[in-house]
Amino acid sequence: MKKIVIAIDGFSSCGKSTMAKALARNVGYLYFDSGAMYRAVALYCLRNGLINGEQIDTEGLRAQLGNINITFEADPVTKNSITLLNGENVEHEIRSLEVSRLVSHVAALDFVRTEMVEQQRRMGKQKGIVMDGRDIGTTVFPDAELKIFVTASAEVRAQRRYDELKARGDNPDYNEILENVMERDRIDQTREVSPLKKADDALLLDNSNMTHAQQEAWLKEQFIAHTEC
Ligand code: DC
Repeated sequence: MKKIVIAIDGFSSCGKSTMAKALARNVGYLYFDSGAMYRAVALYCLRNGLINGEQIDTEGLRAQLGNINITFEADPVTKNSITLLNGENVEHEIRSLEVSRLVSHVAALDFVRTEMVEQQRRMGKQKGIVMDGRDIGTTVFPDAELKIFVTASAEVRAQRRYDELKARGDNPDYNEILENVMERDRIDQTREVSPLKKADDALLLDNSNMTHAQQEAWLKEQFIAHTEC
C-alpha cells in the first residue's frame, strides 16, 4: 500500500484534530497538529511581553522567531501527541481561552506563516502523515493525495468547545465561546495570507450530525480508496 499525505482542513472546533488523530492511529501514520504550532507562537508572545493591549509587537516577534522551537512528541502514557515549546510541554496552556483569543492574529502574520509552513513541509517529507489545519491542502501540501475539508455549524462547534473546557475543569461561558468561534472564522477566512478555504480537490465533510464512529468509518473508506493502487 503506498504512503500518502492526508490534509485535513476546516473551521475551528469542528473536531478536526480528534478525527485526524483517530485516523493516524488507525492507519499507523504520524499526526501533526499545525494549529498547535500557531498556538505555541501565541503563547510565546504572551509570555515574552510581545503583546501590548490588543496589539502584537510584530517587529519584536519577527526578531525572536528564530528562538521559537516547536516540536511534537508522543505522551509516554496516553500516546497522544504533545506540543513542546523550546522543549517544555505546553499542550495544556496552548488550549486556554487567552491563547485562543490571540492566535488568529498571530496566524495572520505573513512571516509567521512562512516559517510554520516551512517546518510543516519538513514534517511531511517522508509521507505517511496526517496533518490538520486551515491551509494544509491549499498551501502546505497542495499535492496531498487525500484532502478533507471539515465543517459544522458555529453553534455545534461552540458547544463542543464548551464541553471540552468544562471537562478539563474550567468554568466556560457559552456565549463568549460562540463569539470567539465566529470571530476566529471571520479572521481565518478574510486574512490576506492563506485564508481558510476549501481546496478544489478536497472532499467536503459536514459533521454537525455525525457520531465519532460514523466519521471514523467514513474516513477509513476514503483512506482505502486513496491508497489502493
Ligand atoms: O485548529 P486550532 O483552533 O488549534 O488553530 C488555532 C488557530 O491557528 C486558528 O485561529 C487558525 C490558525 N491556523 C492557521 O491559520 N493555519 C493552520 N494551518 C492551522 C491553524
